[in-house]
Amino acid sequence: MSLLPEGYPNDARAALAILNARERLGIDDLKVLALIELSGESAYFALGQAAGNDEARALLERNGQEERGHAHRLLKAISLLGGSFELPTPEANPFYRPPVKMDGLGENMLKGMEMKSVTVVSSSNTVAESTEISVSVRPPVPLSNG
Ligand SMILES: [Fe+2]
Repeated sequence: MSLLPEGYPNDARAALAILNARERLGIDDLKVLALIELSGESAYFALGQAAGNDEARALLERNGQEERGHAHRLLKAISLLGGSFELPTPEANPFYRPPVKMDGLGENMLKGMEMKSVTVVSSSNTVAESTEISVSVRPPVPLSNG
């Protein structure tokens, strides 16, 4: 059984496009956002492995840990809005992609790091219907050298 709500693709960019097209995000949308954030962890760890420098690797891995932290922050928001959700293992995340072997950090790593903002409003919790949460979305970094 997929962790994704009906209608969401397992491609993070396509899912982000759906999220960005919504006027308001509900609990299911926040779950998708949490999974996207979680997928950033493994993406940053793969970049760290390609960095070729211990200090750079440590910094990139810290970014990955922060992405997991963002996912946990979304879990708290989901809970406050009356929902519940648990993060899967990285490999069970529908947005997980096995790392691509890289020989270094090319300019492609900067693609997709555009900041996007969305407004979050629960659609299924009367207490939270007027609650708005600003969320910054940073899509996972592409892992190919292409
Ligand atoms: Fe993030």
